[in-house]
Amino acid sequence: MKTTAPGTRLCAVDDIPDPGAVDIELENGADIIITRRGKTIRAFKNACPHQGTPLETFPGRFLTRDKQHLLCTTHGARFRMDNGMCIHGPCRGKPLQRVHIRLMNGEIRTI
Ligand code: FES
Repeated sequence: MKTTAPGTRLCAVDDIPDPGAVDIELENGADIIITRRGKTIRAFKNACPHQGTPLETFPGRFLTRDKQHLLCTTHGARFRMDNGMCIHGPCRGKPLQRVHIRLMNGEIRTI
């Protein structure tokens, strides 16, 4: 199975709207979401804990209209951007799976 080498550049912090989120496909085919709110940058697997589907219906659209939370459009689950916890919807209390990343000189890289 292919893996993404440690230190691989994923994107620049400035590539992500503030607040906002982008999705990145790793070399092994894994789909991750990188979120940004101010200085807080997080990454999660793009798989809803409810049924495992990707969160977005439309490419690149991950946030609620008020841009406060990540949204799974399949059944409307809402997730905190800082820790991925579901706060509303059928998977309430279950988090998105965190992906560890490293920030260096304005760039986001794998660990
Ligand atoms: S699959 Fe995300 S809320 Fe059901």
